[in-house]
Amino acid sequence: MPAAPATARKTSPGLPPGPRGRFLLGSLVELSRDWLGFYKRCAEEYGDVVHVRLAHVSVYLLVHPRDIETVLVTQAGNFTKSADYRALARVLGNGLLTSEGEFWKRQRGLIQPAFHRQNILAYAQVMTEAAGRMLDSWKNEGERNIHDDLMCVTLQIVAQCLYGAEVSGSAERVGQAMEVVMQRFVINASLALLFFLDMPVFLARREQRAIRDLDKIIGGIIRKRRSSNQPREDLLDMLLRARDTDGHPMSDTQLRDEVMTLFLAGHETTAIALSWACYLIAQNPHVEAALVEELREVLGDRVPIPDDLPRLRYTEMVLKEAMRLYPAVWGIGRKAISDCELGGYRIPAGSNLFILQWRTQRDARFFPDPERFDPERWRDDPVRSGKIPRFAYFPFGGGPRVCVGASFAMMEATLLLAMIQQGFHLELVLDHPVEMFATVTLRPKYGIRVIAKRRRSAA
Ligand code: HEM
Repeated sequence: MPAAPATARKTSPGLPPGPRGRFLLGSLVELSRDWLGFYKRCAEEYGDVVHVRLAHVSVYLLVHPRDIETVLVTQAGNFTKSADYRALARVLGNGLLTSEGEFWKRQRGLIQPAFHRQNILAYAQVMTEAAGRMLDSWKNEGERNIHDDLMCVTLQIVAQCLYGAEVSGSAERVGQAMEVVMQRFVINASLALLFFLDMPVFLARREQRAIRDLDKIIGGIIRKRRSSNQPREDLLDMLLRARDTDGHPMSDTQLRDEVMTLFLAGHETTAIALSWACYLIAQNPHVEAALVEELREVLGDRVPIPDDLPRLRYTEMVLKEAMRLYPAVWGIGRKAISDCELGGYRIPAGSNLFILQWRTQRDARFFPDPERFDPERWRDDPVRSGKIPRFAYFPFGGGPRVCVGASFAMMEATLLLAMIQQGFHLELVLDHPVEMFATVTLRPKYGIRVIAKRRRSAA
C-alpha cells in the first residue's frame, strides 16, 4: 500500500503528521496491542515520516528509502543506536552490536576481515555437515517444528565456526544459558523499544546464574586457546590474532563480549530467515517445483559446496524474497545526536527514530503487488539495476553498521535451504497457527510445524 499523500492531518505545527493518541498515554496502548499493525496503519495513513507520541516520548517513524539512507549512510555519524541496544549490552557487554564511537570503529576494523568472503568459505563444510546431521534425524512423514530444528542447527554452526570442534559440545550449554538470558532480554528490549527509553535491567537469580555460566564457558574457551600454541582455522583464532592499527590485540573481556555477540547475532536471525522461507515455499508449489528443479540440475543428490553458490540463483532469489516479506530484523532504532532534516521536517536532537524493514519492503511504490511471494522479482535484481532505491530493501541494514555477518548468513541460509529442499517436501500442519511475533526479531510465534516427506532421490 503506498504511503498517504501530503494532505494527511498534522498533530501540531511543524511536526510530521501522526496519530493524535490518548490524553496522557499517546499511542502507547494501540502500539502495545499490535506493533506491526500499528506501524502499518501509521505508514498508510500519514505518509513517509510519522510522528508517534508514546506517553511523553516522541518517536519518528521513517518509511521512505531516501530518509533511511540519510540515517544509515549519508549522515550516519549523527545517529547513535536506540535504547533497546543498551538493554542488550547488559548481556553482550561492549560488543560490536552494542558499542559506539571510536571503540566500535576499532572493533569493527578488527572483526570485519574475519568475515570477508574468502575467509568464510572455509565454514561451508561445517554448515553442510551440521545440516546433514539434522536431516538424518528427520523421519519420513514425521511431524516437526522446523523452527526449533533450525534454531538448534544454526547454534551448532555458529559455535563450531567460532571456536571449533573440540569444545562444540558446549554449544548446547551456551545455547541453554543464552535462552534464559534472552527471555529476560526480550522483555527488557521490548519495553525499551516500546518506550524508547533506557530501562534499568533487573535480573532474577536464574538469569544472573545463566550469565555467570556463559562467562565461565566462554572465558574458559578463551583461556584455553590463549595457552595453546596450535593454530586453528576458526573465528576465535582470527579474533585472537587480530591487531589494531597500533598493533594492540583484544583484551579477554573484549573477546568475551565479541564471542557472545557473534553467538547471539549469528544464529537466531538465520534460523528465522530459513523458517519463513520454508513456510512460504510450502504454500507456493510452483516456487517449490522451480527450486527443486534447480537443485536437481546443479546438485543432483550431492551435498552443495561453495563453488555451487553462484549457480544456486533461484535458491538465493527465494531467500531474498522471503527476507523481503519476513525480515528477521524487522526494524532498526536510532537516536539523533543533533537536529536534522528528514522528509522535509526538522527533527530535533535527542529524537528517537524507527526504521522499518518490514514496512518499506512491503511498499507498493517499490514492490508491485507487495504482499505476494514472488522470487522472480529478484531475477533482474531491481535494487542492483537501480530500478528502485537502494534502501527499499535492506534486511541486513546498511552503512557503516551494516550486518558484519551478511555474507556468512547468506551462504549458510543458501546451503541449508538447498539441502532441506533437496531432501524433503515440507507440508504445513493445517491446524497449527503461524503468526508473526515482533520483538527484537520477527519470530514465528508458535514455530512452524510441518510433515517432512522424504523426496525420491534424483538418481
Ligand atoms: C539472516 C541473518 C541475519 C540478519 C537478517 C541480520 C541482520 C542484521 C541487521 C539489520 C543489522 C544492523 C543493525 C543496526 O544497524 O542497528 C545487523 C548487525 C550485526 N549483525 Fe547481523 N544479521 C544476520 C546474521 C548475522 C550473522 C550470521 C552474524 C555473525 C555471525 C551477524 C552479526 C552481526 C553483528 C556483529 C552486527 C553488528 C554490526 C555493527 O554494528 O558493526 N549477523 N545484523
